[in-house]
Amino acid sequence: MTHTLLVIGATSAIAHAVSRRHAARGARLVLLARDATRLEANAADLRVRGAAEVHCIAFDALDIDGHEAALSMAWAAVDDAGGFDAALLAWGSLPDQAACEASVAQALQAFDLNARSVLALLTLLAQRFERQGRGVIGIVSSPAGDRGRASNYVYGASKAAVTALASGLRHRLARKGVRVVTLLPGFVDTPMTAGFAKGPLWATPERVAQDIDRALAGGFGHVYTPWFWRWIMRVVRALPERIFVRTKL
Ligand SMILES: NC(=O)c1ccc[n+]([C@@H]2O[C@H](COP(=O)([O-])OP(=O)(O)OC[C@H]3O[C@@H](n4cnc5c(N)ncnc54)[C@H](OP(=O)(O)O)[C@@H]3O)[C@@H](O)[C@H]2O)c1
Repeated sequence: MTHTLLVIGATSAIAHAVSRRHAARGARLVLLARDATRLEANAADLRVRGAAEVHCIAFDALDIDGHEAALSMAWAAVDDAGGFDAALLAWGSLPDQAACEASVAQALQAFDLNARSVLALLTLLAQRFERQGRGVIGIVSSPAGDRGRASNYVYGASKAAVTALASGLRHRLARKGVRVVTLLPGFVDTPMTAGFAKGPLWATPERVAQDIDRALAGGFGHVYTPWFWRWIMRVVRALPERIFVRTKL
């Protein structure tokens, strides 16, 4: 049967790699993103790859008042299919930690995009999935949220908020027939990380999309991708504070 996927932040490299896998299986896709030109280009690519339908809807995560209208349009696009089988939330940005340390405005801006807008959108999305009584919500967070580190704690604090939100939603919606998975990619080579030197721990968007795809199909709880990040973060979390503060992480 044709399945329906809602992708919010659809121009993200990770989200697009997931969308491609669904397109190849003939899914109906509804894409939300703020860059209309790139969104249309992505939609054309997904049609060529086999998507049954692709709808594009303008979405700026920071326009909180516009969230409800964007979701209404998304549901209207698949009305006859009775809503969505799955939703993926994938927008975000990696702020300049030094700039956030120097400026309250910059720190709040980063938190607004990476945490506050996620809380706002998830509040509305959870209501809709609760009414549907079925489906899965995949939320891209980050291992950076597992422990605040000197090098990126503003981003990390935002992702810690997202991870806690996802956990609470999973708890709430488990009894309503809706599954919530927390997606925790490690280092992924995407436009967000373009300025970083890459090494053996880095993965491609396609590699993490494979795990995200599997997580949407039947995963539960916290899904680290690639798998070894679960063990790396177990060690990072276990380090006593007195030792942790002497590390350069
Ligand atoms: N790459 C990594 O190493 C890594 C690791 C862990 C978690 N993550 C998370 O994975 C998710 C996807 O990131 P990515 O790696 O795929 O990077 P990416 O390709 O740079 O994607 C980031 C996306 O966020 C969108 N975005 C930024 N501000 C927005 C706004 N105000 N409204 C709507 N969309 C907005 C961008 O849209 P525009 O193109 O319009 O700017 C872009 O589509 C993010 O949540 C990120 O935190 C990434």
